[in-house]
Amino acid sequence: MSGPVTVVAVDGPAGSGKSSVSRAAARRLGFDYQDTGAAYRALAWFVLERGIDPADEEAVVNVLADFDYAIGIDPDDYFVRVGGVDVEAAIREPRISVVVSAIARILPVRAYLVDLFRHVIASSDKPGVITEGRDITTVVCPDAPVRILLTASPEVRMARRSAEITGQSADEVAKHLTSRDAQDSRVVDFMNAAEGVIAIDSTHLDFDQTIQAVVDLVHAAAR
Ligand code: DC
Repeated sequence: MSGPVTVVAVDGPAGSGKSSVSRAAARRLGFDYQDTGAAYRALAWFVLERGIDPADEEAVVNVLADFDYAIGIDPDDYFVRVGGVDVEAAIREPRISVVVSAIARILPVRAYLVDLFRHVIASSDKPGVITEGRDITTVVCPDAPVRILLTASPEVRMARRSAEITGQSADEVAKHLTSRDAQDSRVVDFMNAAEGVIAIDSTHLDFDQTIQAVVDLVHAAAR
């Protein structure tokens, strides 16, 4: 394992577009891409699969020993598996979104996953890895040469999320998004840029412009 040359850390709230932007930027740069929210979601899926109450912190921490997680970091070969089972679609279901914050609040779970994320980064054989989540700029990779907070106005985030999710009204999507952000931001602050973190506000940028803003920052850091 040689480890990547450039680590790009991207944080942001739900609906900021960080997953799709990070993946597309990685493709443009020839980098790998790590979606860390997928690990919290996959663990939430596994907890429900085992019939464990997500509020039972001790039981959730104990199940980590059996959590066999795998993620694809090639932006053109994305997969999420638990024990060899493809959970890519299942982890996006609303039943997961409503319990994932309770799982992500458990500190030993966070410590375990932070370590796992660093190992995944070290396993990359590309010139760089874009890693996105909530605490990447502050906890997982505070020393990354490029650290970005991707934001957008609440209205734009809700509209984007609502366009992605079918089977839920715009009102329901907005309600869930707001309550998840409120719960998640009790543990990590992803609404304000930490020192040295560059904020990209995508409210008035289209998808391509947002990708380019990330790519430009990576190129500027390399110079
Ligand atoms: O980005 P997402 O919606 O897939 O993330 C799912 C949940 O995981 C989210 O509610 C917060 C949590 N999360 C976190 O606490 N830290 C991260 N680095 C990534 C996600």
